[in-house]
Amino acid sequence: MIDTDLKPQAVGVFDSGVGGLSVLAALLAHLPFERFDFIADERHLPYGDKPQHEITDRVLTLSNWLHNKGCKAMVMACNTATAAAAGQARATYANWPIVGMEPAVKPASLMTRTGVVGILATTNTVASERFKNLVERYEPLARVVAKPCPGLVELIETSPLPHREIEILLEPLVHDLLAHQADVIVLGCTHYPFVAPIISRLAGPGVAVIETGLPVAKQLKARLDSEGLLATHPAAAAVGERVNFFTTGDPVAFRAKLLNLLGEEWADARIQALAV
Ligand code: DGL
Repeated sequence: MIDTDLKPQAVGVFDSGVGGLSVLAALLAHLPFERFDFIADERHLPYGDKPQHEITDRVLTLSNWLHNKGCKAMVMACNTATAAAAGQARATYANWPIVGMEPAVKPASLMTRTGVVGILATTNTVASERFKNLVERYEPLARVVAKPCPGLVELIETSPLPHREIEILLEPLVHDLLAHQADVIVLGCTHYPFVAPIISRLAGPGVAVIETGLPVAKQLKARLDSEGLLATHPAAAAVGERVNFFTTGDPVAFRAKLLNLLGEEWADARIQALAV
């Protein structure tokens, strides 16, 4: 008899690089029985400044690989990829649960006291139709000031993190948001939570800095549950056993970043080169 129980299968996750690790950390914590196949598409990074058709092409290539591998669902752990191609991916795999990222404009609009929400995201996310529609939806609640951050993703992909350069890049952007009276800053790119302490320090104590890892983990859990796909048995004793990593870049460099960003407990992580 063929085993058709998909519950023990992994959930596929991808990003252009290490940004997806900020989402993966939330997924591991919130879904303790699940396993994950994680792709970092580092050979094609950054997505934030690429033409739309190239991002769509990468999204469909990676989705196809994860789908063929047997993943029971997929998380697009990248705001830029979601904004560019979530529609095409969902149309291609109609019966496959796909969860995407969306900048936290809704919670920020409900939180702000000044009525101004700041967003930091990639150039492509800020320019996207999807983002414009999102901002329009919450316009009655808050004014949204969005700042693209070209160059920031590349700095966050550097190990160890070049703190001073990151601060120099971010300082004028954060100050501009403060000049507009923003009291909430939304991190609209999954790489940025790794520099949230720098952003908080630049913004000062009166400004909330929010990200989307946990809401996405909750959304995935609800979706898996409603489809009868939620794993019901412990996946493995050690957290490192629960993920298979794949990179289209250099696995040695990826391991250094992984340890630097998520900690030494990932020293024995399984990381394979992926040629797609
Ligand atoms: N981490 C991705 C995001 O959430 C994009 C980074 C990139 O520009 O490649 O938007």
